[in-house]
Amino acid sequence: MNILLTGATGKVGRHVAERVAASGHRVRALTRSPETAGLPAGVEVVRGDLERPETVRAALEGIDRMYLFPVPETAREVAELAREAGVRQIVVLSSSSVLEDESNPSHRHHRAVERAVEDSGVGRTFVRPDEFAGNTLWKWGESIRERGVVSAPYGQAARAVVHEADIAAVVAAALLEDGHEGESYLVTGPRALTQVEQVAALSRATGREIRFEELDREAGRTAMSATMPPEVAEMLLDYLAESVLTPGPVSDAVRRVTGRPARTFESWAVEHAARFASAA
Ligand SMILES: NC(=O)c1ccc[n+]([C@@H]2O[C@H](COP(=O)([O-])OP(=O)(O)OC[C@H]3O[C@@H](n4cnc5c(N)ncnc54)[C@H](OP(=O)(O)O)[C@@H]3O)[C@@H](O)[C@H]2O)c1
Repeated sequence: MNILLTGATGKVGRHVAERVAASGHRVRALTRSPETAGLPAGVEVVRGDLERPETVRAALEGIDRMYLFPVPETAREVAELAREAGVRQIVVLSSSSVLEDESNPSHRHHRAVERAVEDSGVGRTFVRPDEFAGNTLWKWGESIRERGVVSAPYGQAARAVVHEADIAAVVAAALLEDGHEGESYLVTGPRALTQVEQVAALSRATGREIRFEELDREAGRTAMSATMPPEVAEMLLDYLAESVLTPGPVSDAVRRVTGRPARTFESWAVEHAARFASAA
């Protein structure tokens, strides 16, 4: 079987690349920067840009199955090119947000890609992860390294954050095995953890005291608005408030698809502890 990976240099995609490269199938990876891709030996690395579908055409030649990183602006053209090339199965990196309200921009972003693939008529599997465990790095990494503190609103907001390797394990199964066509998998960690509990896990993993400093909504808005547009900050505040009232969903898809339990946030924290080490 010939497999095309897009997004292979991403946090999920690197785990996917390792798994499919080890499977013995022929694997090609499309990237905008082949020179720095650093993908496993045996993977054929080709240049291409999902935002410019004409650059994807050659990469699709001879491909049976592909992993599609979500770029909604061109998903329709890319899916159509895949159909023309004879691709039989597209595994889409989507999001749990497609199960939420359409007013959520992430819902619209990911659902547009799903719909484009559905409409192409190519077989498909939708992998819909909840919040990545790795988000804690960009949200809290700097303040933990510099001050040993996480300042955030809604400390009791709870999500079953998911290890990127588990998302990849589900993607790889859908690429390498039969029986996943037409399926949609909500992929989460094994249990919902509040933000306070996530910080406590990082504290244990790093062996440092990390304090959670609860901000009220107004202070949270001010802090978030420094790094994102106000409407995105508002949406995130609503999402956190909602996750206090109703913790994020917990799914058994990782166990069903891979036969192994979902990795815990605690294990993710241990693996990534060095990234939170004190800057001093
Ligand atoms: N963070 C979350 O909590 C969360 C939750 C649910 C879903 N998601 C989805 O997951 C995505 C992030 O996945 P990730 O962490 O694995 O990726 P990532 O680390 O953000 O890396 C992005 C990957 O996509 C590729 N890519 C981006 N634009 C491209 C383009 N125009 N043409 C070709 N390749 C392109 C990049 O390839 P090159 O740079 O090599 O070209 C890279 O491999 C988000 O964008 C979102 O759609 C995220």
